[in-house]
Amino acid sequence: DMLTLDLSHAFLKEDFHDYREEVAKLDEALRNKTCKGSDFTGWMTWANDYDKEEFARIKKAAEKIRNESDVLVVCGIGGSYLGARAAIEMINGLYPAKQIEVIYMGNTFSSTYIAQVMEYLKDREVSVNVISKSGTTTETALAFRILKQFMEDKYGDQAAGRIYATTDKARGALKPMADEEGYETFVIPDDIGGRFSVITPVGLLPIAAAGIDIDALMQGLHDGMGEYGDADLDKNPAYRYAVARRILQHQGYDVELFVNYEPQMAMVSEWWKQLFGESEGKDGLGILPDSVNYSTDLHSLGQFVQDGKKVLFETNLYVEQPMIDITFPGDDKNADKMNYLAGKSVDWANKMAAKGTLMAHEETGGVPNIIITMPSMTSYDFGNMCMFFFKAIAMTTLLNGSNPFNQPGVEVYKKNMFRLLGKE
Ligand code: PA5
Repeated sequence: DMLTLDLSHAFLKEDFHDYREEVAKLDEALRNKTCKGSDFTGWMTWANDYDKEEFARIKKAAEKIRNESDVLVVCGIGGSYLGARAAIEMINGLYPAKQIEVIYMGNTFSSTYIAQVMEYLKDREVSVNVISKSGTTTETALAFRILKQFMEDKYGDQAAGRIYATTDKARGALKPMADEEGYETFVIPDDIGGRFSVITPVGLLPIAAAGIDIDALMQGLHDGMGEYGDADLDKNPAYRYAVARRILQHQGYDVELFVNYEPQMAMVSEWWKQLFGESEGKDGLGILPDSVNYSTDLHSLGQFVQDGKKVLFETNLYVEQPMIDITFPGDDKNADKMNYLAGKSVDWANKMAAKGTLMAHEETGGVPNIIITMPSMTSYDFGNMCMFFFKAIAMTTLLNGSNPFNQPGVEVYKKNMFRLLGKE
């Protein structure tokens, strides 16, 4: 039940075999921890290495959160929230019945957003998971102070029992604060960076609190280690995807449009954009990762994809089995002239839309299309997909000669902002 890759619509002009040797060498460097950024390759074996005692504690905390709250506020930004949100929305869908509501804070300075969330929380039972590896991220720290005061006003002595902190074991202001206040804490491993951290407590606590089976997620990740683990390009779909991206870039394509046909996958696209953009967007190189939600966006950006400047290729993430299918109803009057679909599966219609779009973009639009198919949208599939994209982005960035695991560029705005804010 792994992801499959179809490159038969990708118009690749170079020979894959030219890359076999280089890929095998870089694969070895990844494994031996001799590649660029090798201090941050802990995700590669995490499915075996993770702390089992902490994992059990995550499940317990998640159960407590579910028992005592209507809302879980996840306070974090970038790698400290996108993965959890991607997983929760993909696996539960956007309007799940009888699940705790998850609200995201600490990812914006918008005063209106913060004020409206705080107003919304007033009459609800609330738990908070503050997540920051550095423990000093400004958006997160600002929101957390407001949340902390709210929780203390609302719950008094009991507030600390409803606040969970996920952070570095030593660095930053959050860990000492959590210890002092008596929050339960979870550790972000040193050798796993933010955008790879959904498989650590960063993602696992909110995901488990949302009622999702995190054992299955870890199993999917574990199986992915083998399925996307071959050093041989011919036998590794993640590496084939990585090489296809490099070839397409050589052919002049600077933008990759990540396509889904399921609204519950929109945040997976946001997560993927961070993973890919932060990993390879450096040294003046990289493919700009962008995303669309079809068929919705066929009614907006579809025009550009079909007829606009040929800057992009599409990477489709197809889902074989929808979470729920429905049958389209018949109507005696047929005033809307929709009876030709009566009795048909709506998911089948979605798949025909995808097929028609592929043909249009490929044949008349001349747009290269990569197709990745995942079996379904379960927690197992999510874990498995993580390993696929982790391996792919590591390899594709190493092929550029860049370090896949740092993000020096994200610091620049902060310097200016701190000066303007008067931070010492
Ligand atoms: O990938 C990254 O490094 C960033 O997106 C971080 O995840 C983000 O800035 C949050 O950082 P922190 O967890 O230290 O608060």
